[in-house]
Amino acid sequence: MGLFRRAWLTVVSEVAWRIPGRPQRLLAAFALAERGSMLDMLSAVELTERRGLRKLYFRHALDEARHAALFAGRVRSLGAIGRAEAAIEDSGQLVEAGVVAGTTLFERLGEEEFLSFVYVAEADAVEQFEVLLARRLPDPETAATLHRILKDEHFHVSYARTEVERAAAAGRPMRRSMALHRWRRVGQAWLRFSSDFGALMGGFWLGLAYVVGVGPFRLLGRLEPGGWQRPERGGSSLAAARTEG
Ligand SMILES: [Fe+2]
Ligand SMILES: [Fe+2]
Repeated sequence: MGLFRRAWLTVVSEVAWRIPGRPQRLLAAFALAERGSMLDMLSAVELTERRGLRKLYFRHALDEARHAALFAGRVRSLGAIGRAEAAIEDSGQLVEAGVVAGTTLFERLGEEEFLSFVYVAEADAVEQFEVLLARRLPDPETAATLHRILKDEHFHVSYARTEVERAAAAGRPMRRSMALHRWRRVGQAWLRFSSDFGALMGGFWLGLAYVVGVGPFRLLGRLEPGGWQRPERGGSSLAAARTEG
């Protein structure tokens, strides 16, 4: 997917970073993804039976918690607006991450599948951050934050890749599993895009219907005699309201 994905990321990043308010939303989405990743890692810490990996998962979870806070901090510094603010406060993320309402990702996938998922997701994140930096889109402080985070992400990619290669060498179908995760992520990205596009088109058509269909009636609208009346002054106190009727 290399070239195609990079071209897609370049277009999306250029568009997302140049529309006012979108950088905050993108950074808020990163903060949520990092927080979700932290929760996945903490469940892996609890469930793995491999001591060496438990230590790595724990370090990974701490990194992701720090990244989530760094991204949320950047959103606030840039002036969170509307959906970005809502996203970084979104408690529904716990349910989405499957930690509260259902089984964790580690439980659903098992350790090998989980590691191949981690490798694919981390490699995608590295690619996305690198595109943003290569296009010089973020402001200097956000760029410095991304550079800081990238160091940790490279470490996450490298330990996950080592484990995936180890499993592949033992004859496990890791190539197939990584391909499946990649296509799943493409499907999820498509659903996110469709949802955003749907919201945009919904707003456009409803706005148009309001202006063309409802707006003209305002020009003809008048208060009917005997209809709505102005309230009398002084009649709105609690005591007055209690004595009426
Ligand atoms: Fe991260
Ligand atoms: Fe990571």
